[in-house]
Amino acid sequence: MKTLSCFRRLVPVVIAALLVVVGRAAETPREHLSLDANWKFHLGDDWPDALHLENSGTGSGPASERFADTYWRSVNMPHDWAVELPFDSAADGSHGFKTLGGKYPTNSIAWYRRTFELPKQDGGRRICVTFDGVFRDATVWINGWCVRHHEGGYYPFREDITDVLHFGGKNTVAVRVDATKTEGWFYEGAGIYRHVWLDKTAPVAVAPDGIFVCATFKDNVPSNQAGIHVEVTLLNALTNAATAAVSCEVISPERKSLKTFSKSANVPRKAQGAVKLESKLSLPVLWSPESPNLYRLVTTIFVAGKIVDQQETAFGIRTVGFDPTNGFLLNGKHYELYGTCNHQDHAGVGAAIPDALQEFRVKTLKEFGCNAYRTSHNPPTPELLEVCDRLGMLVMDESRLMGSDSGNMKKWDDQIRRDRNHPSVAIWCIANEQFMVQDTPQAANVARTMQEYVKQLDPLRPVTYAAPEDNVFRGINSFIEVRGWNYHYGPQMDQYHVEHSNQPNIGTEQASVVGTRGIYTNDRPHGYVSAYDVVWPGWTTTAESWWSFFSDRPWLSGGFVWTGFDYRGEPTPYWWPCINSHFGILDTCGFPKDVFYYYKSWWTTNTVLHLSPHWNWPGKEGQEILVEAFSNCRRVELFLNGMSLGRQTMKPNSKLSWMVKYAPGTLSAKGFNDAGNVIAETKVETTGDATQIQLTPDRKTINADGVDVSVFTVAALDARGRVVPVAQNKVNLSVNGAGRIIGVGNGDPGCHEPDTFVPTAPARSVDVNDWRWQLANIPKNKRALPEYANDFDDSKWTNVSAKTSGGELAIKTPDTTAIYRAHFTLTEEDLKGAGAQICFDGCDDEGWYFVNGQFVGESHDWQAQPIFDIKPFVHAGDNVIAVGVNNGAGQGGLNPNVTVKIIGNAGIPPWARSLFNGLGQIIVQSAGDAGEFKLMAISDGLKPATAVVKTQPCTPRPSLP
Ligand code: GAL
Repeated sequence: MKTLSCFRRLVPVVIAALLVVVGRAAETPREHLSLDANWKFHLGDDWPDALHLENSGTGSGPASERFADTYWRSVNMPHDWAVELPFDSAADGSHGFKTLGGKYPTNSIAWYRRTFELPKQDGGRRICVTFDGVFRDATVWINGWCVRHHEGGYYPFREDITDVLHFGGKNTVAVRVDATKTEGWFYEGAGIYRHVWLDKTAPVAVAPDGIFVCATFKDNVPSNQAGIHVEVTLLNALTNAATAAVSCEVISPERKSLKTFSKSANVPRKAQGAVKLESKLSLPVLWSPESPNLYRLVTTIFVAGKIVDQQETAFGIRTVGFDPTNGFLLNGKHYELYGTCNHQDHAGVGAAIPDALQEFRVKTLKEFGCNAYRTSHNPPTPELLEVCDRLGMLVMDESRLMGSDSGNMKKWDDQIRRDRNHPSVAIWCIANEQFMVQDTPQAANVARTMQEYVKQLDPLRPVTYAAPEDNVFRGINSFIEVRGWNYHYGPQMDQYHVEHSNQPNIGTEQASVVGTRGIYTNDRPHGYVSAYDVVWPGWTTTAESWWSFFSDRPWLSGGFVWTGFDYRGEPTPYWWPCINSHFGILDTCGFPKDVFYYYKSWWTTNTVLHLSPHWNWPGKEGQEILVEAFSNCRRVELFLNGMSLGRQTMKPNSKLSWMVKYAPGTLSAKGFNDAGNVIAETKVETTGDATQIQLTPDRKTINADGVDVSVFTVAALDARGRVVPVAQNKVNLSVNGAGRIIGVGNGDPGCHEPDTFVPTAPARSVDVNDWRWQLANIPKNKRALPEYANDFDDSKWTNVSAKTSGGELAIKTPDTTAIYRAHFTLTEEDLKGAGAQICFDGCDDEGWYFVNGQFVGESHDWQAQPIFDIKPFVHAGDNVIAVGVNNGAGQGGLNPNVTVKIIGNAGIPPWARSLFNGLGQIIVQSAGDAGEFKLMAISDGLKPATAVVKTQPCTPRPSLP
């Protein structure tokens, strides 16, 4: 990229005049359109030859424009097909025992296709397609042109596809995704699990991720005046240089226009260059997790007085920094990081998390005081950062792998440019736990290169590395700006701090305690671990011990718990039949475990008093049960059925415990302040058996946009309306109206029930074997010949059988045509199904295809594997296929490996899920229409429940139908 040298200030009057004419709501040629809806999906590597590399613009199989995907399943993005797969004890446990990967080739490669129209008027604009994340190894074709091969499952990729588009017509995008290989050691999903976009821009426009805005203060401490720095990278696709005026308007959090500043530049032909603008803002309102104030920068580009581009960028004014003595500094003051590490994985939907569910997750984390999110161990979905900006959550933005090679540095560059405007992003993390190399000089060099690069693109954000080692100052640790600590807390940290007193520190990953919600004994056969915070792998420790240590040492900056949410995979310590991790403060649905209240006690200023365990222990009468109180009250008194069991004083950062002889009834507690006043009360009661189901949506009104979701809690209640903490009832679910269920879960790490129910259509394949052929003159069009008719006698023609080598090379001479004929039989039953297709392995070079004398389609690429819909043309009994073939060059002919596929009617299995310890979760998405949907839950022997959610009209996200 060039930095433009020829800037000059535009005469302010000119710019002012332009803005008066156009105003802020001016039409801009940029369109940022969602391509998420209306994809077709096929699981299976049925077209391995589609990856051929011999020719340009002639993708075969699904990569070809002409391919018939009629009977593929319809899906919307984000989509994760791994979550749809069954579990298998022989599968990779670290990835959640899903039948994915090398052992399951038919489940590991899939195709996505969709079409979109572009009007003629778009000719002259640049069109770009962006995939925010595809897991993994994606190959993308546009109109049969292979435009991109991208391996990394966590990095966005973008391609300017202008040259191969049909303006004024239909365009096809096909994506082959190969999720056979893994990138991490945790569940990673499979498919196009993040958003897809199409951007239309004028030839002179802001480059992708081409706006950077940040605020600075003297000495990095907020004052009454912030410096505003903007860098706009322009892209000129014209064959001549362009003079552009760049105008930036700052909008306040209350949406008031505060100021406008501008600059102009010459952008050379076919080049990209950056324009830097500076301004100042008085009395800025600062951003923080507690007050997430967002400013907006509206950047408008003019060429010859006309607006050619306009973009709005949200940004926050705040400072971040790390100090060796005072730890993390937000807006110049010590700020304790109450962090959690999280993978992108949620019950029901896997890695394909709708934006509203990202919001649900961040809100749930905030409930126990979490103020920082580590996007372990990969770059996040952009919408997660938007939620963190808006709701107030600091972010450690992590790369997948280290490397200073060009490929890795390009990814690092993309990640930083994409994410650096987000005020939530407080620190970059170059990698996690590179055990084998971290202490080497080579790793130190790589770390330094990555760190220095951050300083070029984003000078104000610090950089760390998640180091799994103790007092070691070699390799990466000796160069990294902020020393990251994965575990290894203890005296060695103090020693390190003394010896390297100029280096700030942060707890990049701590705790890793395992526990299952509502379970209080280890239960290996079910894969459950006690939630008493007593089981932890050798390298980790309890919530209480790590946090007490960190809390006493502000220089450590706080830290990140492994993890906020449970996730699939890493089912430590038991593995099968356990299929997900237990590290979470929340389970996979976001239901709190008891440890939630530990963190809430010490990470928030709310008064907290929580008792565990539940009090349903029939058969244990008279036996001692460990009761714990999580509280930040000064003293807590415990009662069983009204009798005091003693008052205890709470030590900061700890919890209290009693051994209590079980008797059914009410276990209650009172919390007292220093003055001895009761400031909190709580109780757990022995409940009756479950008698009814309850449905509670997290939001009673959602947008009717086809993407918004409401997250329902389904609970089993006793006759007095109390959640039965041991209920495991199976609940059947259905929805009416403007909603659709997209996933169900219950947080049970040993549950192998499906998280999602997808429509399946039965299919039957009929091999078409005995072909006959003859050289013949054919019209190279859809006109039928007598030889294509059913009653034509081909008995004297030459026989060519399927699976015989060289069958397709029957025509020995170029520029020669021939006709091929074969028969197949269908039953009356076959005709009742949804459809019928005829699938060819290849036709060298061109073919015109007829069934029962009627034209069904044509192919013009010898590598294509054409598929045609033939349902309207077939009947019960004998059917005839005839193909007129033109061999243009070399040898050719029809490949006689041909199959007729009979597709039955798709059935959608009914949704159901068992509760786990009283609770389950159902994620319902808007189906698009305004109105409402009604969710119904029934369970044997229990009173059913219904809940209604309104779907309100809204301005949908601009998208391509
Ligand atoms: C860490 C690692 C995490 C997770 C965790 C489990 O060492 O960084 O990704 O595997 O262990 O305790």
